[in-house]
Amino acid sequence: MRIAAAALALSLTATACTTPDAASQSASTTQPMVSPILTTAQAFDDQTYAQPQVARVTHVDLDLDLDFEGQQVGGKATLDVLAQPGAKEIVLDSNGLQIASVTDGAGRRLSYSVGAMSDDGGKGAPLTIQLDGAERIVIDYRAAPNAAALQWLTPEQTAGGEYPYLFSQGQAILNRTWIPTQDSPGIRQTWEARITAPKPLDVVMSGVRQGEPEDLGNGRRAFRFVMDKPVPPYLIAIAAGDIDFRAIGPRSGVWAEPVMLDRAWREVNDTEQLIEAAEELYGDYRWGRYDMIVLPPAFPYGGMENPVMTFLTPTFIAGDKSNNGLIAHELAHSWSGNLATYSSWRDGWLNEGVTSYFENRITEQVYGEQRAEQEYALSYASLVEGIEEAGADSPTTAMRSPDSISPFETEGVAIYDKGTVFLRTVENMVGREKFDAWLTQWFDNHAFEPVTSEMFLADLREKLIGNDAQLERRLMLDEWVYGTGLPSNALKPDPQTFAAVDNAVAAYAADGTLPTANTWTGWTAAEQRRFLERMPEERTDEQLAALDARLGLSEAGNNEVLFLWLEAGLRNQYDPAVPQAERFLSQVGRNKFVSPLFTALSESDWGKPIARRIYAETRDSYHSYTRGRVDATLGMTAGE
Ligand code: BES
Ligand code: ZN
Repeated sequence: MRIAAAALALSLTATACTTPDAASQSASTTQPMVSPILTTAQAFDDQTYAQPQVARVTHVDLDLDLDFEGQQVGGKATLDVLAQPGAKEIVLDSNGLQIASVTDGAGRRLSYSVGAMSDDGGKGAPLTIQLDGAERIVIDYRAAPNAAALQWLTPEQTAGGEYPYLFSQGQAILNRTWIPTQDSPGIRQTWEARITAPKPLDVVMSGVRQGEPEDLGNGRRAFRFVMDKPVPPYLIAIAAGDIDFRAIGPRSGVWAEPVMLDRAWREVNDTEQLIEAAEELYGDYRWGRYDMIVLPPAFPYGGMENPVMTFLTPTFIAGDKSNNGLIAHELAHSWSGNLATYSSWRDGWLNEGVTSYFENRITEQVYGEQRAEQEYALSYASLVEGIEEAGADSPTTAMRSPDSISPFETEGVAIYDKGTVFLRTVENMVGREKFDAWLTQWFDNHAFEPVTSEMFLADLREKLIGNDAQLERRLMLDEWVYGTGLPSNALKPDPQTFAAVDNAVAAYAADGTLPTANTWTGWTAAEQRRFLERMPEERTDEQLAALDARLGLSEAGNNEVLFLWLEAGLRNQYDPAVPQAERFLSQVGRNKFVSPLFTALSESDWGKPIARRIYAETRDSYHSYTRGRVDATLGMTAGE
């Protein structure tokens, strides 16, 4: 059941219920591609006000000016609407948008209303527009200066220090703070944009740049972008700053601030190999170019899979490609997440879990089996620990988040790591060759379409299990996806993977014997992480000082390692770690590092005032996502 019958009942034009084949054909003609929507219970997204069965947006055309002084974007959004005959209105998502007018394609005013704001603010407010027969609507608007998706950086927050910078982060439901559209992953839209920015700034987006920028003669330039494949709207993204480009392969390259570009390029210059490996595994890369932008360290995530333009934190750069699993991950989303996309946020694992599995397969192919196995073992260990902490019967440990909790409450490990372990387990039971063929056809058959957990499982059952009742029992599919905790058939990592490190941990725990400096530097980054994650949690000042003196942890070039050191230091109330952590927290806005460091501080009376003091200085430099998470950690209410 790929397309719900109800979606077809919409009596849409032929393209509305395209098969993937017809969909890809239409891309080469002038007909814009229109993806189907799903109307099954699992596909329902409770984080949107849209009623796509009644009327939906199929194409977004943005004409926006970037105002760095006012820290605002504003202009026009022109939306193409596909409505059921007789539909009176269309409902969009909006959050804090200042709307000047709404007209139809001919300039006729349409009446509209903005409903009540959601309780927690995240969902925003419905923007209901009376269609009056219109198939195109034009919204004249400005986003709020504090739009949650956007982060405006001062020159001081950039590496160059000379020019301001802007980037967006749309996932999960932030794009409604700067784009008035139906902001739901199951409502795919093609889009295009014209963006103006002051010289000499460059603009990139998650769409293909069209020609050279146009000089407007008023100190500004206009940039044009097109995404002709329907994407979930959380994937519309923008960045602007003093940035340059350097090519890697025929279809890949990297953008970064000029002073960062060389370091960034050297880290990611094997991207073309990653793309080739991914294609060998699961079929053609369907998006044309694969470029990346290495953003300033305020970026709240490690990476974001914005189509044709992956967004990256600079904190993954270690000088030795040891964190390039991140690139493999964001690249893998070009299939899992960007081709076949969850329809509801409750199916987080369909994007992130499948991608984490795929990431590991790319890593194996490009960086070797040992590294892949080590990363799998780290992932498995996080899963076990995460489930232990949450409780094996906690609804937050189910891969598909149950209706009883918010879709955003599911543990990260249940989405990423449980998803990886699940697919490894299935792969192991059905055999790699068969599994790979199945996953390839899954992406292919659902390219540019929304999907759900039940569709994934039904397809697996139909094509991989058939009548094999014994295999069905052994796989425990429903327990994995809908159940909590860790199913008993989980494929454990090879215990030999970290044998040497685990012995070193045991020796250290027994009598304080530290690995020699040579042993330590001979270890892979994953081995170093394993050691720091496994060493005894409680350490005295003397023990921490000895550890740092021997292993040089406070000087670690790999931020994953440095982070584990800082976390251990703060947890153990180790004074020398405070200035180091303070420096780190004043530069880096990546939530994965920032939140746990504040959490570590907030766990003791020693740390609480330190956390408050540092956060008072750094809070304004964080993206709204990181700020929200740390506010919660420190028990602050919004705006405090
Ligand atoms: N798409 C995610 C980031 C995301 C997920 C943003 C959910 C908002 C809501 C991205 O692909 C991701 O998973 N990033 C990870 C990378 C890591 C798993 C290699 C990150 O940022 O840490
Ligand atoms: Zn991801």
